[in-house]
Amino acid sequence: MKIIQVGAGGFGESWLEIVMIAPEWEVAGVVDINQNVLKKVKEKWNFSDEKLFTSLDECLKKVKADALLNVTPPEFHKEITVKGIKSGLHVLVEKPMADTLKNAEEMVEVAEKYRKKLMVSQNYRYRKGARSLRKFIEEGLLGNISYCNLNFQKGPKFKGFRIKMEYPLLIDMSIHHFDLLRYILGKEPVSVYAESFNPCWSWFSGDACLNIIFEFQDNIRVNYSGSWVSKGKETPWDGEWEIYGENGTVIWNEKIKFISEGKEEEVEMISMEREERDYSLLEFYRSIKEDREPETSGRDNIKSLKMVFNSLKAIKRGRRVSFI
Ligand SMILES: NC(=O)c1ccc[n+]([C@@H]2O[C@H](COP(=O)([O-])OP(=O)(O)OC[C@H]3O[C@@H](n4cnc5c(N)ncnc54)[C@H](O)[C@@H]3O)[C@@H](O)[C@H]2O)c1
Repeated sequence: MKIIQVGAGGFGESWLEIVMIAPEWEVAGVVDINQNVLKKVKEKWNFSDEKLFTSLDECLKKVKADALLNVTPPEFHKEITVKGIKSGLHVLVEKPMADTLKNAEEMVEVAEKYRKKLMVSQNYRYRKGARSLRKFIEEGLLGNISYCNLNFQKGPKFKGFRIKMEYPLLIDMSIHHFDLLRYILGKEPVSVYAESFNPCWSWFSGDACLNIIFEFQDNIRVNYSGSWVSKGKETPWDGEWEIYGENGTVIWNEKIKFISEGKEEEVEMISMEREERDYSLLEFYRSIKEDREPETSGRDNIKSLKMVFNSLKAIKRGRRVSFI
């Protein structure tokens, strides 16, 4: 199938490498408002000028395609996605699906009205670690779960849109962890209490740290502690996970370990035909071919996005926010 990629700088550059080698997909066009980005694409991939556009409207007029991949900053996700869908394209959009819940809901509505697939590339779900942990929990080896500690510590020196965001970690990154929580626990959130802050040495203008308590279905509590300005300890991008159940504790920190009654054993990782964004692309392709909802569809992703925006409400109001 033919795909138009919109946004080819930053993360889009590596996306293009993935799309170019995906056997299911052919790049029909690349759109980026930045001429220098297009110049780099042209040089690297030897594309003809007919495939490169600074305007999506122009591209949609001139290029025939089945789908659109949206790798622009979040504030442009809705406009580009809706335009793509209304032009008859299925859309795979980078996380976070949109910059506001309202915009995300509108994207889902338009996709349903035009009967097009809308999938969010929640690539953290499409890795061996997350899928192996989910399997372990699904099999019931931990018994009833009561609580989970999730610690995320990184110190990336980003340039661009994140530096000026009011809540960079919450809006741009935590969606990965929140989506993983729903996926791994197999439960939906019920309420949230959240605080954000910015350490004195932070290089972000907005709050780069979070302390959040979620209550999930079946009385499960999650303690989420996150920072984007750690100058010392760093965790994996997935975070460091401890899940406590009636049969013991499962720990995920690159490897997965199960501790029960003083004994510790490593949990075997499952194998996957493809991982990460390669898997997102494959799942997107299959959902179109099989005419079914993709795993991380826009509709499903609204539930993960609500965790972001209800956390934001809780931060601003200084009290617990209910999801119901
Ligand atoms: N899943 C992940 O692990 C992961 C990692 C990094 C970034 N991302 C996501 O990818 C998206 C893009 O992030 P980035 O870091 O590449 O941003 P970026 O700012 O580095 O690059 C965005 C590109 O989009 C182009 N662009 C901006 N507005 C446009 C428009 N209206 N039409 C066409 N092109 C436009 C810019 O010129 C730029 O080349 C974000 O949603 C971000 O959260 C996801």
